[in-house]
Amino acid sequence: MCIRIMITTNLTSAKTALDAHEIIAIPTETVYGLAGNAYEEIAVNQIFALKNRPLYNPLIVHIKSIEFLGQVAREIPPLAYQLAEAFWPGPLTLVLKKQAHIPDLVTAGKDTVAIRMPNHPLTLSLLQQIDYPLAAPSANPFGSISPTTAQHVATYFNEKLAVILDGGTCEKGIESTIIGFEDENPVLYRLGSLSIEEIEAQIGPLLKHNHTSTQDPIAPGMLARHYAPKTTTYLTEDVNELIQNFSSQKIGLLLFQHSIQSATIAHEEVLSSTGNFNEAAHNLYAAMHRLDRLNLDLIIAEKLPDIGLGKTMNDKLERATKKVE
Ligand code: TXA
Ligand code: MG
Repeated sequence: MCIRIMITTNLTSAKTALDAHEIIAIPTETVYGLAGNAYEEIAVNQIFALKNRPLYNPLIVHIKSIEFLGQVAREIPPLAYQLAEAFWPGPLTLVLKKQAHIPDLVTAGKDTVAIRMPNHPLTLSLLQQIDYPLAAPSANPFGSISPTTAQHVATYFNEKLAVILDGGTCEKGIESTIIGFEDENPVLYRLGSLSIEEIEAQIGPLLKHNHTSTQDPIAPGMLARHYAPKTTTYLTEDVNELIQNFSSQKIGLLLFQHSIQSATIAHEEVLSSTGNFNEAAHNLYAAMHRLDRLNLDLIIAEKLPDIGLGKTMNDKLERATKKVE
């Protein structure tokens, strides 16, 4: 048991902890991950326990190079290589048939494994120094907002982690886009920080399923409610109208581009004053973390234009605002 958390940029302490089957937090360009040796069930078990994550929800395996793909996956479709060449290292996860030595715990018993090569210099150096891949879900308790800074991770897990590798604020700020293959055809499993448009420009049209059920055998992690602040959150196209409905309450606003300077608002976050999707995505989770710490009665989030990363952010916000049925 570790009693002291270490927020550090020191790769040696990160490697030492991982070699001892401990769990550390790693920075990636998307969000921070809770990482352990993907080949060791002892380590993988701890990841699920720390996150309080149900065992039916499989993890992403992080690898150091495209060449390493064959170590973890088999029967890799040519299109998967094409995508990897185009977007790795980067915010794209590929779901492929797994090699037999990937523990069932990592893949929730499925015959497929989710794989990505992250684009962060510290984590890539770490991966170069170890001879095993890293299983890593986002470093948040199950269902809550993903972390985009080392401090977010420390707030969630405090002394429960051996090491938090501090790689600064995550550049993209939203999880990777997940693509699987059905009969060698690419299928979108999760919207993420690589837009559908960018992927389709490379490989043509993607199949799109609406995976929102815990029972879904294909994409078991696509829960309807996810990424959720503790504060009740509403998503709307007409922020002003909703403000009227809750006039006597302490309201926080999550706005895309334009400030609504209103005296009745306790706090507002504007994601990108120039209307830039990349900047908005980079700021989204940090803004949600800040709003959630203010003891507001409610948060009103503004729906973004439904294209490119706007579509991804709307998807995250819809999951954050869905009421438990
Ligand atoms: O950007 C990211 O992807 C971050 C960073 C840390 O890499 N990781 C991340 O992991 O978002 P996590 O565990 O929060 O989300 C992984 C998603 C889950 O929805 C899970 O169900 C899905 O990947 N997944 C994993 N293995 C799968 C498989 N074999 N088939 C279908 N979906 C899978
Ligand atoms: Mg997650």
